[in-house]
Amino acid sequence: MKRTKIFQLIDADAPLDRVLAKGWVRTRRDSKTFSFIELNDGSCLKNLQVIADESLDNYEEIKKITTGSAVAVTGRHVESKGGGQKWEVQADGIEIIHMAPETYPLQKKRHTDEFLRTIAHLRPRTNKYGAAFRIRAELAYAIHQFFRDRGFKYIHTPILTGSDCEGAGELFRVTAMDLTRVPTVDGKPDFDGDFFGREANLTVSGQLSAEMFALALGDVYTFGPTFRAENSNTRRHAAEFWMVEPEMAFCDLAGNMGLGEDLIRTVVRQIMDNCADDLELFAKFVDKKLMKTLQNTVDSDYVRLPYREAVAILLKSGKKFEFPVEFGKDLQSEHERFLTENHFRKPVILHDYPKTIKPFYMRVNDDNETVAAMDVLVPSIGEIIGGSQREERLDVLEARMAELSMETEPYWWYLDSRRYGSVPHSGFGLGFERLMMLVTGISNIRDVIPFPRTPRNIEF
Ligand code: 4AD
Ligand code: MG
Repeated sequence: MKRTKIFQLIDADAPLDRVLAKGWVRTRRDSKTFSFIELNDGSCLKNLQVIADESLDNYEEIKKITTGSAVAVTGRHVESKGGGQKWEVQADGIEIIHMAPETYPLQKKRHTDEFLRTIAHLRPRTNKYGAAFRIRAELAYAIHQFFRDRGFKYIHTPILTGSDCEGAGELFRVTAMDLTRVPTVDGKPDFDGDFFGREANLTVSGQLSAEMFALALGDVYTFGPTFRAENSNTRRHAAEFWMVEPEMAFCDLAGNMGLGEDLIRTVVRQIMDNCADDLELFAKFVDKKLMKTLQNTVDSDYVRLPYREAVAILLKSGKKFEFPVEFGKDLQSEHERFLTENHFRKPVILHDYPKTIKPFYMRVNDDNETVAAMDVLVPSIGEIIGGSQREERLDVLEARMAELSMETEPYWWYLDSRRYGSVPHSGFGLGFERLMMLVTGISNIRDVIPFPRTPRNIEF
């Protein structure tokens, strides 16, 4: 008999007759002549109620089944007489696949997020983390669908690279050298004998490669893991995180902002439509205002605000910030959150930042003081998207790199794209975990990624 997923049994319109279900026991309780098993296979939040009665051969064994045990149930799918569920399964056979000992850490009680991080290998078996990771899967699918519907091509950009896109120096080195015997020249490591014959690192962004493909295929995107050795132990930073990076040829900053707004709106709406049960759990137990936030995210028009005006608003606010606000200084999370949560109370797109706080590739504006950058800020998280129109003018780009004392030689191929058929183009990076935080209301990035990597933490 073919196994049926539990979500199909729970959502059925009519009885499915004799079925086979496999899963893990969440709880079991006995009445005089029955045992009630709450079975979950991870396919949905709800458990399947299974009724095993004393006529089963192995009833004595069944009465010993513990929480966390794995079983295979065959039986009839029938309307439930009890309240609480529409359907249940009257078992005519229960095979015990594996009996979990009493040491199983997930006994029926509430556990803290901190404790569950110490058992990240088991936490997807809880209601909350099961729901989070089902939503994560749906969200990834929604993103691919969004781009495919609009004719974007999915590009796989390298994870190992020789260039630093953001120039922020937060690179994880990659080497195959024996670290106890690193050769040096002039006191510096000599990478000549290393695997690639030069310095290599894990990518911080797929953008530079994506640009090359946008200038060939038009509209493209990447969606992959990125790595930053930022030593900031905050609830919004991870050392390994996933980024969605669209890049569009013949597109200016306004078009770029429009795409970012459309992307967030569309995928959030899709989760509201397709993950209602899982979302309800978060609205009940994690963030009481979640549904209001999501509705606001899909309904409101996102504010467009030049950085300069944002600084003026922050200075006029009279609010005491930990970090001072001043034109030319990067905004901190507290400033971003003030703008989006307190001042506008909806998503805000800041644009045209001072060039001094942005990377080399952003297009310099006519004022020669700002660049065509944009960040999308959302309530309770702050920055969720960072992007820009790219500098397509070779001479301006080279001047900018010189200003930043960058070596141009390693970027010869990047500069080539400005030599041959260069066009205005734009793109951005959406932090996938930050989007997960927005959608679920989960406030710590460690709890929206299966096995988080943060400073001093690479267990599992
Ligand atoms: O603003 P960022 O640094 O932009 C770039 O890397 C561009 N090259 C992207 C592009 O234009 N193609 O990062 C983009 C987004 C941020 O807005 C944030 O959501 C997320 O990536 N992000 C992080 N998420 C989790 N942990 C970190 N350490 C993150 N750093 C950035
Ligand atoms: Mg940024």
